Amino acid sequence: MPFDTRTFSFSNTDLVVDPYPAYAQIREREPIHYSTMYGGSWLLFSYEDAVALLRDPRLTNNRATLPIKALPEHQRGEFDEFVAFLHTWTAFREGEQHTMRRARLNSVFRALTPTRVTEVAQQVTDRLIDSWEGREKVDLVKDFARPLPAMMLTSLIGAPQHDHAQLDHWSDQLAYLFGTSALTAEDVRRAWDGAQELMTYLEALAAELTGPGNHGMLGELLTTGGPGYDFSVAEACAQCVLMLFAGIEPSRHLIGNAMMALHRFPDQRGLLRNDPRLWPAAIEEFMRFDPPVQYIGRLAAESFDYRGHRIERGQPVLPYIGSANRDPKQFVDPDILDIRRRGRHLSFSEGVHRCIGAGLVRTQTTVALRTLLTRIPDLEVCTDPAPHWNAYVGFHGLQSLTVSVPNITPAAMTTAR
Ligand code: HEM
Repeated sequence: MPFDTRTFSFSNTDLVVDPYPAYAQIREREPIHYSTMYGGSWLLFSYEDAVALLRDPRLTNNRATLPIKALPEHQRGEFDEFVAFLHTWTAFREGEQHTMRRARLNSVFRALTPTRVTEVAQQVTDRLIDSWEGREKVDLVKDFARPLPAMMLTSLIGAPQHDHAQLDHWSDQLAYLFGTSALTAEDVRRAWDGAQELMTYLEALAAELTGPGNHGMLGELLTTGGPGYDFSVAEACAQCVLMLFAGIEPSRHLIGNAMMALHRFPDQRGLLRNDPRLWPAAIEEFMRFDPPVQYIGRLAAESFDYRGHRIERGQPVLPYIGSANRDPKQFVDPDILDIRRRGRHLSFSEGVHRCIGAGLVRTQTTVALRTLLTRIPDLEVCTDPAPHWNAYVGFHGLQSLTVSVPNITPAAMTTAR
């Protein structure tokens, strides 16, 4: 596929389905690429540059304004309140303000023991698979990958399980904002509406979480006097909005992308069947091979020269981790799925903003995929209808994936637990 760097745009449908050949071309020719995205940004395609600049203090994650930058200047003022809300997220703070907030978030994640996460993941996974009784085919995205992380996080946050579809809907409205640069004012309005409705819901929930007992992640966030920063009720709820948005969307794509990868490389599925000890390494390889988050956003905090390019203060710098993970200078035969591979992918980012939910994702995805393939060993991806991919690549994943589900083994009889 000829690749035109002047029109580098990820609303191009060929690139959305399979961006990797285009990445390979541009990484070879012009690994540091100036694009008109967001009114002028630097896109990084090599592993080396992605790591170097993700760790570089001259770049900042204080980028709550980034989605709004995609709009014409005269429309931006309408969203000042929304930008102020995004600025309360730990993800968009820097320096000490980030460290203090992250320390409190870390304590919340520490309270989530692997046993608790495994238990919730197993319940949710089995419940979803049990509901397929009598069916020959299911949509693995709609009937599994999509609801699973929302059900997990609803439980872990401390909200009633039956509200998961509503929470998912609101967080979905936000996710679109961070998956593409082709935004309209209407898209931003929808995201802000979703965020406000989610905040109203969470603040009502917070008001009910009183007295001793386990009140989930929201309860932990509201606890004062622990390590790091004491969040106000509104700030604690805003961190839950962040975690729902940051957690649900990529986790669901990881499950779908991993299934597609195993479909393309059936020998690797055979290896997993023969040796379940390979699961942890397999999850890392699924993350490397087809990462749900394809690029990360940063802004230049100051003007500086980098490898012969002048990066001006305020310009977005976007490391394409989807490309970095396939850099042949870093990984041998990068376009091959090899679950015995070793090496550090960038799919959870690098540096101080590295994903805080990585442990949760690893446990959740292992339980989900392992249970799926243990309870339905003959599960196969169907080619009719063909898998349908997301329309934007920021969050790279499937909208639907039909699979056949013959001979579902009852939960109690499998050894995946
Ligand atoms: C497959 C699933 C996931 C992927 C691929 C993923 C990926 C990422 C990436 C690439 C970043 C770094 C962004 C940056 O450097 O600016 C990040 C940050 C973050 N992630 Fe995840 N994530 C996943 C799941 C989760 C889950 C389940 C949660 C929480 C429940 C979560 C919470 C966060 C938070 C709070 C941050 C911001 C951390 C900070 O700035 O200090 N993520 N994630």
